[in-house]
This record gives sequence, structure tokens and C-alpha cells, in this order.
Amino acid sequence: MISRRKLIKSLGLSALTLPSLTSFGNPASPQGLLNPEDPDFWKSVRDQFPLDKGTVFFNPGTVGAMPKIVVEKMTEHLKYIASSPADWAYKDDNKEEFISGYNNLMSIRTKVGKLINANALEIAMTDNVTNGMSYIANGITLQPGDEILTTDQEHSGGKSGFLVKEKRFGAVFKTVAIPKPAHSSQEVYDIIVKAFTPKTKVLMLSHMISGSGAILPVKELCAEASKRGIFTLLDGAQTVGQIKVDVKDIGCDAYAGCFHKWIGAPHGSGFLYIRQERMKDIWTTIASGRWDNHEDEGFRFTQRGTGSFPILKGVDAALDFHFELGPDRVYDRIKFLGARLRKGLAESKKVKFFSPSDESMCAGITVYNIDGWTGTKLQDTYWEKAKMRPRSQGDVFGVRHCTHIFNSVEEIDKAVALVKDWTK
Ligand SMILES: Cc1ncc(COP(=O)(O)O)c(C=O)c1O
Repeated sequence: MISRRKLIKSLGLSALTLPSLTSFGNPASPQGLLNPEDPDFWKSVRDQFPLDKGTVFFNPGTVGAMPKIVVEKMTEHLKYIASSPADWAYKDDNKEEFISGYNNLMSIRTKVGKLINANALEIAMTDNVTNGMSYIANGITLQPGDEILTTDQEHSGGKSGFLVKEKRFGAVFKTVAIPKPAHSSQEVYDIIVKAFTPKTKVLMLSHMISGSGAILPVKELCAEASKRGIFTLLDGAQTVGQIKVDVKDIGCDAYAGCFHKWIGAPHGSGFLYIRQERMKDIWTTIASGRWDNHEDEGFRFTQRGTGSFPILKGVDAALDFHFELGPDRVYDRIKFLGARLRKGLAESKKVKFFSPSDESMCAGITVYNIDGWTGTKLQDTYWEKAKMRPRSQGDVFGVRHCTHIFNSVEEIDKAVALVKDWTK
């Protein structure tokens, strides 16, 4: 087992020389080797990010921060393409590293599979979550009157493909209201299950609601939907890199995610998982030469023409960084900081939370407001007084305040102290 000192040292040298300490899904991993509070360790992690030291970033729920190694790997490849295009043999299958969209990207899809516990053949690389969700909405066959069931708190990038389906083909887009703040998983489960009808053909849900940080009981809901033959699609924009995602354990039919929020990859990078048995039911939306390739279905959904390999190099490096740090350690740290923020804020009577009151439904997203304030006022006051950047959620819901591995305990405590001061 590697010592804490060695780990910190290796991180300081280069993220990618970090020996693997934990492997996802390996129960023998030395969990707890470093506790989520260890200041020296987390400072050395923070030092891996080229973030401006004079500002505090609390908004990876929109787009995340890239570690240095990600920027380096992208830049290196960009320079290589610019300087050596003649190196590319075009038909050499072992050297298809100039354009994405025409090769199966097996190595990176294998890493994505490891991240979410899926087979690489079940993974398609996309630009973002909107792509993945739209691929399913567009590619699934629904009859007029068939229902798509979802909540009233879905992001437009997750739901809009189904609004097209409704307008164009007469499917019915049906939303149920869930409480904000949510109080328990059981409450959310009951509301959604009660809304199933014999016409429900798709259950589409955020795994984590972006406007509240609520982790929904997706495993239980997918099990209930599957019993009724309902196709289950999850929007994982806010989960991958923040909380553990195991698509086999969840049991969903499809899962769309991105790497540019919590994984720290370049903007414009995502994936779509479709369970092998359900892939044949989905038509592709973007088609090129292998559009009907049912041997490698993930490749069938990655027929997107010329794309950017430097971005994929960045994704690859970000995934390596995440694995080398240890996914469980990352999730623990994010949750530790999020819980500390919520606990501190709760001491101010004038703070109203929109994140779940049940801590087991929360991780690194906290949504709250101060009585009588708007989200813009709270967001802007954070910036003016302390150069801190959470994101406004509008007039009522205040700000969405995300905590990630590059944040420190001091930053959290300072935010709490500021809010205490503003609510005196
Ligand atoms: C829940 C949810 N779904 C979808 C999206 C859209 O993601 P993307 O920009 O990767 O398409 C977001 C973005 O914030 C989101 O939070």
C-alpha cells in the first residue's frame, strides 16, 4: 500500500505518475487511506489545477475546471496535428488519431465503460448531454398517444428532444411535480410511480436534478419501470465525476452524461450509454458509413463526421486523472465539502434551502437563498465581496453552490461566514 507522503509527492510531480490507489468497483481498494479532510493532500490536488488563485470557483455544475494535465495533453496534440499532418497515413488503422468520427475510439470508450461499469460497445462518444438525450428521443419509435413520463425539474437539454417528439409525432410529454426541497427518496418514488399508466413508454429523469442537487431514487424507479416494459433514460449531466454511477446496478436502458462538468475535461465532451439488449430499438440520428453497424452499436451512434481529437485527448487525460486520484476518494471529498457548506449555512436562520432536507440525497450541489434576496443579488454579492463564483438560480431559488476537489475547507468556511454576516 502506498504511503500518504508518497502519494502527495507523486501528485506534485505529475498527476499521471500517480500510482493507482483504488480501482472503481474493487472492494479490496484501500478506502479511507486518506480521509476527506486531509489538508496537505487536497492542497496538492488543488495545485494540479491552473485556476486563478485570486478567485474561488463554485460552478462546475455549469462547466468544470480542467487540471493542468488535461490542458497539456490537448495542446500537445493540437500542436502535433498542426505541425505533422503528413504523418497521418489515413488508412492505417493503428494511427487514426487525427479526426474523430471515423474510428471506433475503443481505448477511450473502454475508460468510459470503466467509469460507469459498462461494456465499451455500449458507449457512444458525444459532444454533450443534449446530444445524448436527443439521440434517444429522436431514435426511439413512439406512437401517437404514447407517454413519456418525467419530472417538472428537468433541464431543457434533457427534455427538449421529447418535446420535439410530442409536436412532431403526437407522443405525450407528461410531467409530475416533485417537491423542492425534496424530503425523502420514498416521497419522490411514490409520486413518480403513481403517474405510470399503461401508455407510459419512456421514463426520462435526471439522476441528479441540476436546480436542487437532489439525487433521485433512480435504481428503484428503473426497476419499477422495467417491470412494466418502460424504456428508462437517465440524464447524468450532474453526476459523472461527482457521485458514483454504476449503470448495471441502476438498471437503466440508457444514460447520457458529459465530461465537461465534474470530470474536468474540455468543453464539448460527453457520452451516451445504451444497454446492449436495447440498442437495436434505437435508430441513429447522425449517420455516416457505419450507421447500420450492429456489431459495434456504440460506434453506430458515433458516426458524427469529422470531430476534434485534441478534445478526446483532453477527455482521456481527465479520466486518467480521475482514476489515479481514486473515484471514491473524489466522491467522498465532494460530499464532505458539500455537507460542511450545508451545515454551516443552516446556522443562519434566514437561509432557505432548495436542496433536499435528507442529506443522503445530496452531494456537491447546494441550492439556497437568503430571505428577501434574489439569486442575482446573492451571486453578485459573493463576487463583489469575495471574488467567489456560485451561480444564480433566478429570483426565488438563490444560488447553486457547487463544491469540488479543487475547493478548500477555508473557501467553504469563508462563504459560510459571509452569509452569516449578510444575515445578521
Ligand atoms: C441536468 C442537465 N441536463 C442537461 C444539461 C445540458 O448539458 P450539456 O450542456 O452537456 O448538453 C445540463 C447542463 O447544465 C444539466 O444540468
